[in-house]
Amino acid sequence: MKGLRLRDATAADRGPVFEFCKKTWPDYGDYIPRVWTRWLRDRGGRLIVAELDGTPVALGKVTDLGRGEIWLEGLRVDPKFRRTGIADAMHTEVMRTVKKFKPRFMRYCTGADNPASRRIGKKYGFEVIARFRYYWQKSRKGTPRGDLATRRDARHVYDYIMQSRFLKLSSGQIAEGWIFREMNRDLLAGYIRQQRVMVMKKSGQLTGVGVYPYEENDDSTTLGFVDGEPGTIKVLARNCIYLTKMHGRKFCSAAVPTRGFARLIEQAGFLRKESVGQLVLEHRLGHRDTNRNGASNA
Ligand SMILES: CC(C)(COP(=O)(O)OP(=O)(O)OC[C@H]1O[C@@H](n2cnc3c(N)ncnc32)[C@H](O)[C@@H]1OP(=O)(O)O)[C@@H](O)C(=O)NCCC(=O)NCCS
Repeated sequence: MKGLRLRDATAADRGPVFEFCKKTWPDYGDYIPRVWTRWLRDRGGRLIVAELDGTPVALGKVTDLGRGEIWLEGLRVDPKFRRTGIADAMHTEVMRTVKKFKPRFMRYCTGADNPASRRIGKKYGFEVIARFRYYWQKSRKGTPRGDLATRRDARHVYDYIMQSRFLKLSSGQIAEGWIFREMNRDLLAGYIRQQRVMVMKKSGQLTGVGVYPYEENDDSTTLGFVDGEPGTIKVLARNCIYLTKMHGRKFCSAAVPTRGFARLIEQAGFLRKESVGQLVLEHRLGHRDTNRNGASNA
């Protein structure tokens, strides 16, 4: 497209970018203003702006999650210039950018009701690897049931998660809001350190696990993983609502595989009418993980 230039975002782009993001989602606006400064400073990834004849008209963020996982987010085109090939140009620039990371995978998440984003994924070789239902709820005072996992639990909790139905249905992904990453030992160890994993036990054996990562983009907590018997799932899901309050946050979300889990999450108190379908799309690039700790993420 004539006059289109893709480059690193700068602090000066803030005004025009915030302006064209005002109506990204009809009832919600956009989260870009909340993440802007952090994304600009992120030396591990890249915030890309497309300018048309000198005016910013599009945004895209490449985030290096480590271990060969690239996360794509924040793709926005000014409504005035949509359907003119700007997202295509952004994708070309993204591909140029990710080369230096030698990724195994690029992934992104989109609403099941976003035909434009799904079309772009299909066009560029992304496949839907998991379908989630995303729920939202206000935090509330209450006493979580179960125990916080400790370092000593780590191995058992990891094995439990890796063999769980949840992880099978989620293709190995767990959510931090709208960001999904592969479960692995290091990630779990971090969540345990941050006191974001709860376990239920019977006679010393694990009967359920809940993982509640902090989510930066929305300053909230996510129920990123839960499994156990139905009653245990409900208890561990409800814990998310209470833990969020204990951490001083207003909202929490839950991202669970559509089959089997959605109904239980609703029974735990997450609101169906607030829920939306989430698709995780993946493009396999084939470089090897040079930072593996022997864990399989299959
Ligand atoms: C999604 C978005 C970035 C697309 O940007 P765009 O510059 O209009 O897209 P392009 O013109 O480069 O088109 C890329 C492809 O998507 C298709 N496409 C674009 N908008 C579409 C729509 N509303 N419905 C169906 N397909 C669409 C185009 O036809 C094209 O495919 P084709 O070459 O096979 O015809 C833009 O609509 C947007 O900013 N939407 C709001 C934010 C959003 O949804 N971001 C993605 C979140 S994951």
